[in-house]
Amino acid sequence: MTTAPMRAGIIGLGIGAAHAKGFLRSPHTELVALCDANAERLAARAVEYNIPAEMCFTDYRAMLAEANLDVVSVCLPNALHAEVSIAALEAGAHVLCEKPLATTLEEALAMQRAAELQQRRLMVAYNHRYRADLAWIRQMLRQGALGKVYNVYAWWRRESGIPSSGWFSQKRLSGGGAMIDIGIHMLDMALWLLDFPRVETVSGQVTAHFGTRGLKTWSQARWANDSTAEPFDVDDGAVGFLRCEGDLSIHLHASWAEHRAPREDIIHLELNGTEGTTVLHVVNYVRDGTLQFYTQLAGQPVAVAPNVRWEGLYGHEALIVESMAALVNQQPAPSDVRHGVIGVQILEALYRSSQLRREVALE
Ligand SMILES: NC(=O)c1ccc[n+]([C@@H]2O[C@H](COP(=O)([O-])OP(=O)(O)OC[C@H]3O[C@@H](n4cnc5c(N)ncnc54)[C@H](O)[C@@H]3O)[C@@H](O)[C@H]2O)c1
Repeated sequence: MTTAPMRAGIIGLGIGAAHAKGFLRSPHTELVALCDANAERLAARAVEYNIPAEMCFTDYRAMLAEANLDVVSVCLPNALHAEVSIAALEAGAHVLCEKPLATTLEEALAMQRAAELQQRRLMVAYNHRYRADLAWIRQMLRQGALGKVYNVYAWWRRESGIPSSGWFSQKRLSGGGAMIDIGIHMLDMALWLLDFPRVETVSGQVTAHFGTRGLKTWSQARWANDSTAEPFDVDDGAVGFLRCEGDLSIHLHASWAEHRAPREDIIHLELNGTEGTTVLHVVNYVRDGTLQFYTQLAGQPVAVAPNVRWEGLYGHEALIVESMAALVNQQPAPSDVRHGVIGVQILEALYRSSQLRREVALE
C-alpha cells in the first residue's frame, strides 16, 4: 500500500529556504504552502518552489487554517517560536522548529506540553549534527577509541559576524545574542555526541564590546523586520562552563565578533578522553582537513589526520530527510523536543549565572 506524501508548509523564508530543500528532497513530503510576513520575499520563494499564489500566505494563522498541513517548519525570529509552534501543533501538524527551541525555559516547556497534548511531534533543527566529520567522531566514541571523555571544548568564534538584521541583536525578539544563536549549536553537538550527560551546574559570562558600537557586523542584504533603530542589547561574546555528571567538564565559547584574522569564522569541538583526543576544527566552513585524532601507541604519542569523505546529504537536507522518514516509520525523532528544552534550560542558566555572577545549579 502506498500512502500519500505528507503536506509540508514553511513559516519564515530566510533559513526556511534550507527547509524547503529538505522537504523537496524527502520522498515522504510534498512542499505545498509558504508563509512570510514579507510579501516580496514570499513571492520570490513561491516562484523558486513553484507554489501557487493561493498557497502563499503573509499570515501564518490563515495558512494553518486553510492549507491542511501535516508538517510545518517554524523558521521565524526566536521570540515567535513558541506562539507559532503551539498554533501549528493545535492545528494538527507535526512541527520542525528552528533553534533555539524558545527564548525561555517556560516557553520551551509549554511547547513540549502542547506536543504531548496534541500527540504531534515537535522537533528541533539541529542541522550541525549532520556533518560527515562529526559522524566520524561519533563512531570513534561508540567504538570506545577515546576511552572516558572528561573534557569538551566547544566553540564557534567569528571575527566579524554580527547578524546585521535587527531582530538578532534585540533581546525581546532573540532572547540573547551569540550564545543563543551559534553557541547553542556547539552545546547541542557536545551533548549529542556524549548522549546527553546530566549537566549539574552552569557558569557564564557574557560581553558586548562590538555590537554596542556598531562594529563587526555581517554586511548582508536582509529582507524584513529590520528594526535597526532599536539598540543592540544582547551578548556578542559569551563563555560558559558546565559541570556534568561523571566529572565531565564542557567549556563553551560563542562569539559573533572579536579581534582575530580578518573574516575568520571557526567552529571547534575538542573531546579529551582517557585513551584519545579528537579535534574538529572548521575554518570558514571548509569540509576537508577538519579532523585530528591524538592517542598513544607503543608508549609514544601519535597524531592521525583522518580524511573523511562527504557522501550523501548533510545539514538541513539530511536532518529533514531523516526526520521525515522517522516520522513515517514511527521511529524516535533524531532531534527530539527534549533536546531543544535542555539547550534552552542550559543557556537560560548561563545567562542568569552571568547576571548573578555565580554558578547556577540545574534542576
Ligand atoms: N539552524 C541554522 O543553522 C540556522 C541558521 C540561520 C537561522 N536559524 C534560525 O532560524 C530562525 C530564522 O532566522 P533567519 O536567519 O531565517 O532570519 P531572517 O530574519 O532571515 O528570516 C525570518 C523571516 O521571518 C519572517 N517573519 C517575521 N515575523 C513573521 C511573522 N509574524 N509571520 C510570518 N513571517 C514572519 C520575516 O519576514 C523573515 O523573512 C531563527 O530562529 C534562527 O535562529 C537557524
